[in-house]
Amino acid sequence: MATLAIIYGTGFGNTGIMAKAIEEGAKGAGMDVLMKKVDEASPADVEGADAVAIGSPTYRGAGMPTVIRFVEGLAKLSLKGKVAAAFGSYGWSGEAAQVITKMLKGYGMDVIEPPLRIKRMPEAAGKEECRKLGKMIAERVKK
Ligand SMILES: Cc1cc2nc3c(=O)[nH]c(=O)nc-3n(C[C@H](O)[C@H](O)[C@H](O)COP(=O)(O)O)c2cc1C
Repeated sequence: MATLAIIYGTGFGNTGIMAKAIEEGAKGAGMDVLMKKVDEASPADVEGADAVAIGSPTYRGAGMPTVIRFVEGLAKLSLKGKVAAAFGSYGWSGEAAQVITKMLKGYGMDVIEPPLRIKRMPEAAGKEECRKLGKMIAERVKK
């Protein structure tokens, strides 16, 4: 079975709720999921997966420093063509998921665009969007 690594940071839990719903969508579409908070994750988790979803909320116009550092640390891996997506909760500007998308594209990854951004706490509709992203990732890996 193909594996999706979901790696995320969250301050108040909103991006964590997104991660959980992405997991549900990917599992429903037949993927194995490895979900980790960024502090527990290593580049090997990304290397060993068939696809990766990276999540960060936006704080002060940027991504969480721990998540950005993690993504920077992926530069040494060979990730060309691997399916990827960025996601994150935000309040008003939502730069984080865009910045991460740009970084992953820089590594030559097959990045789903636009990134998934949900305002504040995901409600039912937002969670459904997250499940759809999980499914979309699974379908993209199968191609
Ligand atoms: C100190 C602080 C700074 C923030 N800065 C931004 C910002 O620059 N742009 C934005 O869109 N949201 C900003 N937010 C809103 C958060 O992105 C939003 O609350 C989000 O839901 C937090 O996600 P989390 O629960 O995963 O941490 C800020 C929130 C706080 C507390």
